[in-house]
Amino acid sequence: MENTPITPEDKLRLCALADIPEGGSKGFVFGERKLFALKQQGKIYLYRNSCPHLGIPLEWVENQFLDDSGSMIQCANHGALFVIKTGKCVAGPCSGRALTPINYSIEAGDIFIAHS
Ligand code: FES
Repeated sequence: MENTPITPEDKLRLCALADIPEGGSKGFVFGERKLFALKQQGKIYLYRNSCPHLGIPLEWVENQFLDDSGSMIQCANHGALFVIKTGKCVAGPCSGRALTPINYSIEAGDIFIAHS
């Protein structure tokens, strides 16, 4: 969810847009808060790193959130597959459920999320 206003006092810089490789993914941890970002055709998708199946992080290998084809988000635990654009699970034990999108904004080449 891009461009929903984030108030200046609540703004937290996630990273530079360029830090997320095209066609790739990257994980982030802020205290108890875990999330991951993907870049597809220049567009950013940002989700909570919590699988709807068991509520645990999706990846086993750092920054690897995609399946072998690079076209779906994959949970490494039990293989659930999610649509990148929507976060909806289309295969696996949480089929029909969805990842939680994170609101963000892009300013001057940096990605920002809300603090809370
Ligand atoms: S924890 Fe993600 S598929 Fe089971």
